[in-house]
Amino acid sequence: VTKGVILVGGPSKGTRMRPLTLDCPKPLLPIGGKPMVWHPLNALAQVPGLTDIIMIGFYEDSVMAPFVRESQREFPNIRISYMREYRSLGTAGGLYHFRDLILRTPLPQHIFICNIDICSSFPFTELLAKHSAHRGVGTILGVNVPKDTATRYGCIVSDPETKQMLHYVEKPESWISNTVNGGVYLFDKSVFDEIRVAMDKKTECAAHNPLIELDETLQLEQDVIAPLAGTGKMYVCETRDFWRQIKTAASAVTASGLYLKQFQRSRPELLARAGGAIIEPVYIDGSAHIDGSAKIGPNATIGPNVVVGEGARIANAIVLDNSVIDKHAVVLNSIVGSNSRLGQWARVDGEPEPVSDVKGQISVSVLASDVHVAPETHIRSCIVLPNKNLPKNAYNQVLL
Ligand code: GDD
Ligand code: GTP
Repeated sequence: VTKGVILVGGPSKGTRMRPLTLDCPKPLLPIGGKPMVWHPLNALAQVPGLTDIIMIGFYEDSVMAPFVRESQREFPNIRISYMREYRSLGTAGGLYHFRDLILRTPLPQHIFICNIDICSSFPFTELLAKHSAHRGVGTILGVNVPKDTATRYGCIVSDPETKQMLHYVEKPESWISNTVNGGVYLFDKSVFDEIRVAMDKKTECAAHNPLIELDETLQLEQDVIAPLAGTGKMYVCETRDFWRQIKTAASAVTASGLYLKQFQRSRPELLARAGGAIIEPVYIDGSAHIDGSAKIGPNATIGPNVVVGEGARIANAIVLDNSVIDKHAVVLNSIVGSNSRLGQWARVDGEPEPVSDVKGQISVSVLASDVHVAPETHIRSCIVLPNKNLPKNAYNQVLL
């Protein structure tokens, strides 16, 4: 028996996604036309014999409940649930807190665990095959990232032959490896013994050190995985498939494009058909109204009830529900929030996601909800907060 856990985090995080996350919690942001959390959930649902998918986070139950209901309808053969931490417990604290629920009948032999804020093909079958070839407690998905970005991740050094993990450092000060933790794991159920050891160790440290707070928080990376490096219990499965972190608005646009490309191969029926003024891949919600002369794509995601007027142009963009893109308006390299409106001949654009981001530099434009851009107005590389009227051009600014 196999089960899946998705770590969805909670409302205090995702500040880099603001202002989008003011209205929509990060796990539910539409990426490739589906809520961010749908992608790992859908991938888990394809694993043969998987019985349960458990989302763990500290969002209110009411935030996640509609998604749980919808996905339960979509995947009726899998038990889908959301378990709420009473507060942020870290990446392993929730697993520990809910261990009895995760291990309840049917008792799983294997548990997949994944982070929410990544865009990946989630190669679970490959992970399972690699995992079954050794006797370790866990297998971690390793991805290769550019050298100058590696220290933003958990860095892994493994034996080139056996793929046994030799060293693991979470976000090291200086470079140690280009192979990083992809935020996807397969663990044997005995991982809960390892988590208990980590928890006991923490309790013991707290008893001797008044600076360590004795609570239920625990990090999977630092407290559980790092100590397993070099013990022969952790292995790495390196993938060459697409993989990105989704932390910023710019990376959400990139991730959306990667998922749309994947749908071209795996789920073409979800996408808008090419031809006319559609340049694949494009996702258009069934309730949106698009004028036949509007040119859409590649990489455009158009949400429910969006209205796009004649001659409008949308590419490399996400347009959220109920927005209006009036005649001849342009949206490029941008995210347009719910209930927003671009007047005729308005233009909202930005730069595509840079390979290595410069601090403080805005690439894609992000309009939060209820933003109105006046006709013939140009907004370039701006972050715009909700309920704003933009009567004149603006460049490289945060519009509060
Ligand atoms: N339930 C719950 N509770 N989930 C949490 C909590 C928590 O207290 N804190 C974080 N998460 C979830 C996040 O939603 C996300 O899915 C995952 O755990 C990791 O989030 P962070 O703790 O913000 O770490 P990170 O994203 O900076 O780095 C992690 O992911 C990288 C890959 O994207 C680490 O695992 C890195 O090693 C890894 O390279
Ligand atoms: P994210 O996009 O979610 O990473 O938001 P952020 O980078 O703007 O978060 P912030 O600046 O608030 O925090 C920086 C880092 O601290 C995050 O990337 C997390 O690794 C960590 N962090 C912040 N809040 C929490 C929390 O509630 N629980 C845990 N476990 N880690 C947190």
